[in-house]
Amino acid sequence: MCGIVGYFGFRRADKVAISALKRLEYRGYDSWGIAVKSGNELKIYKKVGAIGEVKDFELGEGKISLGHTRWATHGKPSEVNAHPHTDCNDEIAVVHNGIISNFQKLREKLEREGHEFKSETDTEVIPHLIEKYCKKGLSFEKAVMEAIKELEGSYAFVALSKNEDKLIGCRYKSPLILGVGDGEFFLASDVPAVLEYTNRVIYLEDGDTVIITKDGYEIINNGVKVERKVETVPWSLEDAERGGYEHFMLKEIHEIPRVIEDTLMEYVGEEITLDVSFAAGISEIVFVACGTSYHASLVGKYVIEKLTGIPVRVEYASEFNYHDVPFSRSLVIGITQSGETADTLEALRKAKRIGAKTLAITNVLGSSVTRIADYILYTRAGPEISVCATKTFIAQLIVLYVIALRLSTIPRSEIEDLITELRILPAKVEKILDNEEEIRKIAEDIANYDNMIYIGRGLGYPIALEGALKMKEISYIHAEGYPAGELKHGPFALLGKEMPVIACVIMDDTYDVMLSNVKEVKARDSPVIAVADERDEEVEKFVDYVIRVPSTNPIFAPITYSVVLQLLAYYTAKKRGCEIDKPRHLAKSVTVE
Ligand code: F6R
Repeated sequence: MCGIVGYFGFRRADKVAISALKRLEYRGYDSWGIAVKSGNELKIYKKVGAIGEVKDFELGEGKISLGHTRWATHGKPSEVNAHPHTDCNDEIAVVHNGIISNFQKLREKLEREGHEFKSETDTEVIPHLIEKYCKKGLSFEKAVMEAIKELEGSYAFVALSKNEDKLIGCRYKSPLILGVGDGEFFLASDVPAVLEYTNRVIYLEDGDTVIITKDGYEIINNGVKVERKVETVPWSLEDAERGGYEHFMLKEIHEIPRVIEDTLMEYVGEEITLDVSFAAGISEIVFVACGTSYHASLVGKYVIEKLTGIPVRVEYASEFNYHDVPFSRSLVIGITQSGETADTLEALRKAKRIGAKTLAITNVLGSSVTRIADYILYTRAGPEISVCATKTFIAQLIVLYVIALRLSTIPRSEIEDLITELRILPAKVEKILDNEEEIRKIAEDIANYDNMIYIGRGLGYPIALEGALKMKEISYIHAEGYPAGELKHGPFALLGKEMPVIACVIMDDTYDVMLSNVKEVKARDSPVIAVADERDEEVEKFVDYVIRVPSTNPIFAPITYSVVLQLLAYYTAKKRGCEIDKPRHLAKSVTVE
């Protein structure tokens, strides 16, 4: 995820910017850049790669600067696309975090008015808009205020002009904090960037614009001056990188509501804007993926088949090479959050060789998969640091729902209802996060078992598989996911007091049989933990624990139920004292077959 910083004070602003950016390196980035106002000059430096490689950085003696670490979203990683971005005459510099969803429209309008753009980014519209209003005679500050009225989407940005001694920061739906020092001020997307200099910060709110001058700072919201509380950060630098969370995994689970919003914003406006030319003329879809991405594919199969009638197969990417099937009019979709999983890349290469169309769904712009597949769709989860996939899995599901809805043959009114439900999912996930304490208690009760079985039917089956994978990889408990109907065909022999069963009970057409399966398990003495809809009054009669999930259309149960199971795995692993963010023997990108 991009990181932004800004500085106004008495120190050398180039040195502050680079040290603040280094503190944001943990967020992941592929390029970076800094601008310093040095006298009446604007000095800009941009680079692809890591800051660590740069020694003795110097960019003039100015005392006002801004900086950025970029994690590419619009446009590949390159010096041209790296921030800061500037206006036509390089007088205004801007660094931005977030997505300007109407940038294409704004850019076309500005180009018609004579503005020349240098990069492929959405951000570049911001300095051009500010320039436009400056040219109409507004001050820098007023021009920024006018510019933000035209922006849609999400942003936190910092701007400076070579013509005025001012630093301006604006926040809307992307984080921005103001660090308050003695005679110096800092802007940053996250607290670690400023902690070396001050632990006094203001968490800016949506709609806030902060204007920093030599006399101090002022915050304006909706044209009105507002006061915000200065808080003292109680964390160490190391804690702060994880936003105060003990582990990246927990931080990333807590980012899920925002990830759903960002990924939806990418493909759904007033209605679905996703271009589905990849699906023209296809007769079937074949998913190829590994691990968690394979489980997302299984959800994709259920949802796409249900909503579109297109037949879907799901293959482990690592097995795809070993059988030969005809691929006439097939669309092969490779799902890989890292974009680097060797087996998935190889499966896509094979699909291309045998003449199938290929589409990749990935979280990493410019990753290897983007150079192989014919079509690319990005998830907007931001970098995931914990090895275990959580927020990227949910973002993959969102993209799959959008594909299914866009290709759907169901009545338009039903599609609209489902889109409305999708939009309220972030609030439902927030509700689950509010219930974290209850999940933690149950996790602590089950943390001493050595084995677990997860069961589900229909959409509950991939949820069970994914829940079990999360549990085994971070807690080292042997956990297996099964279709509930399969238990009788062997695994029943394992049931008993020492074999807890996690049952994913969804209120759809699988419900009655699922409840019978739960009863059968209970009759064999296994402790049962049900994850169930908040309206379900039956299930609690037959199980030891119920974790309630906010009601949704059952088709979206994989989102809500999976967040519960991620938290269950997290707290179980924590109780067992496991090293959660870096489980033994595992890597974030599996680049060997
Ligand atoms: C599990 C996990 C792995 C990955 C798998 C595929 O939490 O992270 O199972 O899902 O290695 O990785 P990607 O999606 O990068 O291809």
